[in-house]
Amino acid sequence: IEVDEFDLVVFGASGDLANRKLLPALYHRDADGQMPENARIICSARRDYSDDDYRDYAKKALQEHVKDLDAEHLQQFLKRLRYVKIDIATAEGFEDLSTILDERTDVIRAFYLAVGPDLFGTICENLGRVGVVNDNARVVMEKPIGKDGASAKALNDTVGAVFDEHQIFRIDHYLGKETVQNLMALRFANALFEPLWNAAHIDHVQITVAESLGTGGRAGYYDTAGALRDMVQNHILQLLCLVAMEPPESMNADSVRDEKLKVLKALAPIDEHSAEKLTVRGQYRAGASAGGAVPGYLEELGNDESRTETFVALKAEIANWRWAGVPFYLRTGKRLAQRVSEIVVQFRPIPHSIFDAEAGVITANRLIIRLQPDEGVQMQVMIKDPGPGGMRLRQVPLDMSFAEAFKVRNPDAYERLIMDVIRGNQTLFMRRDEVDAAWAWIDPIQAAWAASKDTPKGYTAGTWGPSAAIALVERDGRTWAEDD
Ligand code: BG6
Repeated sequence: IEVDEFDLVVFGASGDLANRKLLPALYHRDADGQMPENARIICSARRDYSDDDYRDYAKKALQEHVKDLDAEHLQQFLKRLRYVKIDIATAEGFEDLSTILDERTDVIRAFYLAVGPDLFGTICENLGRVGVVNDNARVVMEKPIGKDGASAKALNDTVGAVFDEHQIFRIDHYLGKETVQNLMALRFANALFEPLWNAAHIDHVQITVAESLGTGGRAGYYDTAGALRDMVQNHILQLLCLVAMEPPESMNADSVRDEKLKVLKALAPIDEHSAEKLTVRGQYRAGASAGGAVPGYLEELGNDESRTETFVALKAEIANWRWAGVPFYLRTGKRLAQRVSEIVVQFRPIPHSIFDAEAGVITANRLIIRLQPDEGVQMQVMIKDPGPGGMRLRQVPLDMSFAEAFKVRNPDAYERLIMDVIRGNQTLFMRRDEVDAAWAWIDPIQAAWAASKDTPKGYTAGTWGPSAAIALVERDGRTWAEDD
């Protein structure tokens, strides 16, 4: 369905995010017929480009990042692109932007800040100064939103001085992933799960976001963040919220976000007394990954003092009626054995077996929601082994692979999210109080680590992280899903 007429301004239009994600996402939405005839994409960066220079630049980015680029759609898309040179530091160029935008004031106006967070405030102030923030305006912010609660507050205050909360779209691209939205469909469009979705029937939940890549060209930023801030504060806590929240009264943005907020507030605090027991930090050492030998994190960084964690595993608890006593094991890291993101919901064992020993072991049911790669949902159930040989039981997966079930291209998260910005739908974006609540849980963990004499435990690149992460769940008599 076509969205309303819009002008989208992209700051950081020659950056990595624009090349890899935003331009391809916009191209696909255009090729699918979702953009109105006169939609404009106004790209801005510091380089001295003309409109045509930027179109050449964008064409190259699309050729690199879009499979099956269609020549006709490409031409149509490139025509939408305009370029304005803006130097954010000196504020030069904002007037030129305002001249272009003022050619039409009655359309949606979205400002996408695909730049480092240190520039968010300056950009917003300048947009305010040149008078382009009208009632149709909205702003899109990428993470990281601060590096702790205090800096997030300062950032949100600066942006909030120019834009109202209903105009601010804080992207967590995990919320735009197809399988993440499917988690809501699974929970709330089926009667099957909800009666079982609580501590009486669920033993524990595992959320893993494992990457096989290292920190790539982002070691500078990454070293100031680490896995806890880079992945847990946002993506993993958002996944946890969607698994754990109460049914919202509707898909309305505030209904959903109210419920997520309650989960964040119910997270049992981890502080200097419990951090050692409930958290594990790791840092990769040289090893083998993605088919070749790779250096360790410190060598990549060129600094052997860094205590930044490239891996974290946590045991979280949600202190409310639904979840009391159900551990949520969270884990993420770089240079792990495999790129896999999944949520595993482990049900409790049957209360009593009617089968004799010959039937074999009865494994408790498990629901696996796989975000990437091979998106899909799998329910592990017990069945009888076929054949006349007696009652032998076996665990089999009831499998729903999205690639097989739907023979369509799986859209990237950004496609959905950018269009939601234009539609003004904030359901899949983080509200300010969610960001605050997430930091309120993360800050004491970070402080406990800073105060501790321990350093992150080394793990060999290409493995599942430090052995302490395995011990974290084994101490509770459980195992990580891939070890079963
Ligand atoms: C980003 C993190 O938010 O998410 C990166 O900053 C990480 O460090 C990335 O690699 C993972 O996203 P995806 O979509 O590839 O799983």
